[in-house]
Amino acid sequence: MVETHEFVIAANRLPVRQTDDGWVLSPGGLVTALIPVMKNRSSSWIGWSGEPGVELAPFEHDGLDLDPVTLDQDDFDDYYEGFSNGTIWPLYHSGALSTQYHRHWWEAYRRVNRRFAERAMATTAENGTLWVHDYHLQLVPQLVRDGRPDLRTGFFLHTPFPPAELFQRLPWREQIARGLLGADIVGFQTPDDAQDFLSVCRRMLDTPGTFLDDGQATLEWEGREVTVGAFPISIDMHEIERKAVDPETIAAAADLWVQVGSPKTLLLGVDRLDYTKGIDVRLRALHELLIDGAVDAADVAFIQVATPSRDDVRGYAETRDQVERLVSEINGDFASMGVPVVHYLHQSFSFDELLTMYVAADVMLVTPFRDGMNLVAKEFVAAKLSGRGTLVLSEFAGTAQELTDAFLCNPFDLDGVKRVLLAAMNAPVEEQERRMRAMRERLTNHTVHDWAGKFLRELR
Ligand code: ADP
Ligand code: G6P
Repeated sequence: MVETHEFVIAANRLPVRQTDDGWVLSPGGLVTALIPVMKNRSSSWIGWSGEPGVELAPFEHDGLDLDPVTLDQDDFDDYYEGFSNGTIWPLYHSGALSTQYHRHWWEAYRRVNRRFAERAMATTAENGTLWVHDYHLQLVPQLVRDGRPDLRTGFFLHTPFPPAELFQRLPWREQIARGLLGADIVGFQTPDDAQDFLSVCRRMLDTPGTFLDDGQATLEWEGREVTVGAFPISIDMHEIERKAVDPETIAAAADLWVQVGSPKTLLLGVDRLDYTKGIDVRLRALHELLIDGAVDAADVAFIQVATPSRDDVRGYAETRDQVERLVSEINGDFASMGVPVVHYLHQSFSFDELLTMYVAADVMLVTPFRDGMNLVAKEFVAAKLSGRGTLVLSEFAGTAQELTDAFLCNPFDLDGVKRVLLAAMNAPVEEQERRMRAMRERLTNHTVHDWAGKFLRELR
């Protein structure tokens, strides 16, 4: 007998990955957001272990029931690296990179989505709740609707949803839209994303939506009502605050500041090494400000964490080369003996280590060309209980629709980024505190618990 659960999450990855020290929680916005939601419920998480070809029985980690799905090498190549990260990821990020369309990738996507749907149908209890996450599994809601109409099924997209004219390039656009509409709720990060999805439904499937007061819409679809709306994801504000004021964190932040040369201004970037994140933009802006003489190299240090990600997918190795060339150009031109300007770390860190960096930094740089939300920006603000520090934030991150008191910039406008960066570095303390107070208030009232609570309340 397969064990069933009242509440099941399906996402491409399990929330853990295997290291030399055993299983550990993985980095990534999705995982950070969902762990707190699972604890204290009869729940399980269906996902891939991260290693192609490895078959694993269900297991428990840190009180979480985990239900591994196997991807063989072909699935990895064609479903994960191919359709998910070679077709959907760049297309959904506004065509940040030219998108490739291959029929065998699509076949693999369908095959793996069926595998996830079958597992979800087998392990979710009667009348239970299934919450499907992200762009890898867009066909699962309809597959589950066909086989298990008793379930309440929610879908949440962590990436942006593209404008209709981009989405309509997809040869399999109709299957994907229908796949999503199998859910009872289709949730997006921002009202703009929800609008874009509604406009796709209107154009392709002739389903005019009715907008309700709170920015949500209901669609009549195949005799059912589907809710479409924005549910902006957030962070565990109180937990971050608690850790940020821990004397150990404060001491570690002070040590870090000394280690990087006790700069007048410590700049920070924390991203997966991804072409959507605009790491190159901030490096170029800093380099030009140093060349112009607007910033003195003796006054500044920049820590850039670039977590390794999707190394073999098209675009990632090129991005790494580009970032590493820019880092070495800045350091070649402006470092002094033993004191680089840019401290570039192509490594993964524990959350506590990242938090130390947030606490130590004066200016956080978040400059994606497009980003569904960007949790790093929110984590930085949560860590700034003192009210000091500034956030430079791309207008094209979902976060910018909430954190309107950040120093907003257009990452495609290098002069604009330079101007905004300089303003953020030189902001008077009163201005820093005013902006930070407004951003912190927003986050205090919209934590990850509020996000999950709202989504699940509406789903049930
Ligand atoms: P994305 O989901 O595209 O990676 P986000 O900024 O939304 O971008 O989420 C990234 C999440 O991963 C954050 O919660 C952050 O704390 C975590 N993270 C980023 N880099 C690392 C790292 N090097 N080690 C551990 N966690 C990381
Ligand atoms: C983004 C996606 C997640 C994904 C994470 C890490 O946050 O929205 O679904 O898990 O990146 O990417 P990876 O390809 O390593 O799973």
